Amino acid sequence: MSFFHLLLSLAISIALVSAFSPADHHLIDCGTTASTVLDHDHRPFTGDGSSTTLSSTKSLSLKNSNPDPNLSPIYHTARVFTKPSHYKFKIQEKGTHLVRIHFYKFDFMNIGTTCHDQFHVSANGYVLLHNYSVSKGNPRIKDFLITADEDELVIRFIPVDQTSFAFVNAIEVISAPKDLIDNFKYVSFDHNMRYAYESVYRVSVGGVKVTPFNDSLWRNWVPDDEFLKLGDGSVESYKKIHFDGRINYRVGGASREVGPDNMYNSARLIFGVNDSVPKVNMTWVFPVKKGFSYIVRLHFCDIASISIGLIYFNVYINGNLVYENLDLSTLTNYMLASPFYADFVVDSEKFSDVIRVDIGPSKSSMPHAVDGMLNGVEIWKMSNSMSSLDGEVCVGQLESKSQSGGQMSRLLSLTAAVCLLAIAFLVMRRKAVAKGLAGWSRVPVDVSEIDLKSSYPKSAGVSV
Ligand SMILES: *[C@@H]1O[C@H](CO)[C@@H](O)[C@H](O)[C@H]1NC(C)=O
Ligand SMILES: *[C@@H]1O[C@H](CO)[C@@H](O)[C@H](O)[C@H]1NC(C)=O
Ligand SMILES: *[C@@H]1O[C@H](CO)[C@@H](O)[C@H](O)[C@H]1NC(C)=O
Ligand SMILES: *[C@@H]1O[C@H](CO)[C@@H](O)[C@H](O)[C@H]1NC(C)=O
Repeated sequence: MSFFHLLLSLAISIALVSAFSPADHHLIDCGTTASTVLDHDHRPFTGDGSSTTLSSTKSLSLKNSNPDPNLSPIYHTARVFTKPSHYKFKIQEKGTHLVRIHFYKFDFMNIGTTCHDQFHVSANGYVLLHNYSVSKGNPRIKDFLITADEDELVIRFIPVDQTSFAFVNAIEVISAPKDLIDNFKYVSFDHNMRYAYESVYRVSVGGVKVTPFNDSLWRNWVPDDEFLKLGDGSVESYKKIHFDGRINYRVGGASREVGPDNMYNSARLIFGVNDSVPKVNMTWVFPVKKGFSYIVRLHFCDIASISIGLIYFNVYINGNLVYENLDLSTLTNYMLASPFYADFVVDSEKFSDVIRVDIGPSKSSMPHAVDGMLNGVEIWKMSNSMSSLDGEVCVGQLESKSQSGGQMSRLLSLTAAVCLLAIAFLVMRRKAVAKGLAGWSRVPVDVSEIDLKSSYPKSAGVSV
């Protein structure tokens, strides 16, 4: 490697470390003409009343007359649609975007009593929500990854029929950091197919809730307690740990956009307190909807060992050994408190309607050492062959169903035919996918900061 080459890779490495600044960054507060509304994290949202992004023949803007002061101001207003409507966002940089849609139902008094919210949401040809309605209570945030190949991203809201309406409180469209989803191309079943993803779980293990304020991608991470399965009641073997030191983000390792400090600095662990390695697993169970495939990302960061080279454990997903003898020290280039993540694909069709994660000691685990650890879990639902994340339905069906008239019928039957084909394909694909364990490992591409001669994978994955 020439000196110039080395400098160049260092420069690239430094660029990779710098703060995340997305090319596309649209924050829309729906149902207001205000030019700027600051949310609780001081992010400036623009009212949709004055913007050209909104296109609707029939919409109402509603304001909550008695807003909860603890709720972010973006939930104080809403836009209600009684006819199909859409928002069109200009895209500067084609590629994957984070699309976050906020719903909060306050008293929608002036819509009438016969109407209820029941609607579909689509974006650039993907069904995001089908037959959706929002229950009262806390705001609901729906989090998607959508690829925009054109220079616009169109989000449609479609009431299911004449008696229903659609609504939305706020929308975020943000360019996704490349390294967040780098791996997804390796974990796809079909490389010709482009998937949309919905984030269904984002969990900080052993920690407290992480709010958008403490996350560079403005995400929420919830504590793991409700997913943790307490087998024999030996809570002691699922010890929570919190770390006050600095998380060592490495070039070539997970970045802050992959996982924030506040997620990596807490974990649960299995610790051998006497002269034998405990014979236990830590187990988490996540309910999922059948008929979809999921990407499971497990986050690890050794914030508990007193020295490197002491931590080894096994990882199982739905009972399959997906990572044998995971050696966190080697994977993080012999650095403590340095993050590592691994991605796995789960075809839920083959299993029950849960995804189960077990962490347990391996053959190299040692007494008086950490014999299992987990810091975070993320689960993404992948769109099916009908490009839907919610039900076996095509975007074409949703958009034509809500319209009427003779001219539509030919188009309708054509759409139906295309959808039938897609359903047939879906069934065939499911059969094809019902195969055994197909492993792959990520090819290390990044040059390590410490040792330029050798590089380490920042992540690895396997199909389950
Ligand atoms: C949509 O929801 C309604 C009531 O919630 C239900 O009756 C209807 O069957 C659903 N339609 C589909 C296609 O799931
Ligand atoms: C952000 O993180 C810090 C340190 O962990 C914590 O003290 C603070 O409460 C967090 N803030 C929010 C708004 O969650
Ligand atoms: C270690 O502790 C476990 C549970 O606390 C116990 O079952 C086991 O017998 C102990 N082993 C030794 C060698 O003391
Ligand atoms: C841990 O979980 C795996 C997979 O479910 C299982 O094969 C193994 O027997 C479990 N180990 C213990 C000690 O329960």
